[in-house]
Amino acid sequence: MADGLGATRLGQIGEVTGDYRESGVRMLLGDDDWVIRRESGVDYGYNMTKCMFSAGNVNERRRMGEVVSQGEVVVDMFSGIGYYSLPVLIHSEAAHVHCCEWNPEAIGALKWNLKRNGVRENCTIHEGDNRQSSGVLKGVADRVILGLLPTSESSFGPSIEVLRESGGTIHVHGLANSDSHREWSEEVVRNFRRLDPSYEFTISDIVRVKSYAPKWDHLVLDIRVN
Ligand SMILES: C[S@@+](CC[C@H](N)C(=O)[O-])C[C@H]1O[C@@H](n2cnc3c(N)ncnc32)[C@H](O)[C@@H]1O
Repeated sequence: MADGLGATRLGQIGEVTGDYRESGVRMLLGDDDWVIRRESGVDYGYNMTKCMFSAGNVNERRRMGEVVSQGEVVVDMFSGIGYYSLPVLIHSEAAHVHCCEWNPEAIGALKWNLKRNGVRENCTIHEGDNRQSSGVLKGVADRVILGLLPTSESSFGPSIEVLRESGGTIHVHGLANSDSHREWSEEVVRNFRRLDPSYEFTISDIVRVKSYAPKWDHLVLDIRVN
């Protein structure tokens, strides 16, 4: 097939697995697995056998570049190679983006991407488990992105801590049954309320990102915190 297409490299798609959400791609032809994906004016470089890239999340990546207002501080708790941080840095006028990430392969690609896209100055990388590394970010954020599937629940508590005392917005990714988007969203909000009853948590939007599996959707819940 590669001969027919004149391709020098061929990769076979595999399942994304583990705590690092590692790629299951296998090289069938050629050794160099570095790719640069150009999308909505952003260059995403990564080793495709090491880091995942979900093509289906294209609209959510674009949306993140559109929702951030001038001067906001954003904390991306599961930044990976910069899936959401890069559009924010490139397409919004955010004051600063803090990226938390624990996979060294993703951190390497993120550093390369910040340089490649010319946005290194406005970003700080916090290496390690976000439940610890976000400790230095208490009260700084106008907006927090929780972009981990199947759930980011173990970092709900830290995400409240990094928000400004006056509140802000949290974008929570998750998986919901196709006919239970509202129920899933209300359950997420109940979990936030249980963690910190002193804030008001209200649903401002429920965004369907893609179909994840038969009858299961990848959703993003936008929560306003006051
Ligand atoms: C791959 S991204 C998900 C990207 C996005 N949802 C998408 O589909 O395009 C999730 C990242 O979170 C990182 N991660 C998971 N748990 C973490 C934790 N507790 N602290 C820091 N990073 C974490 C993983 O290493 C991974 O790079």
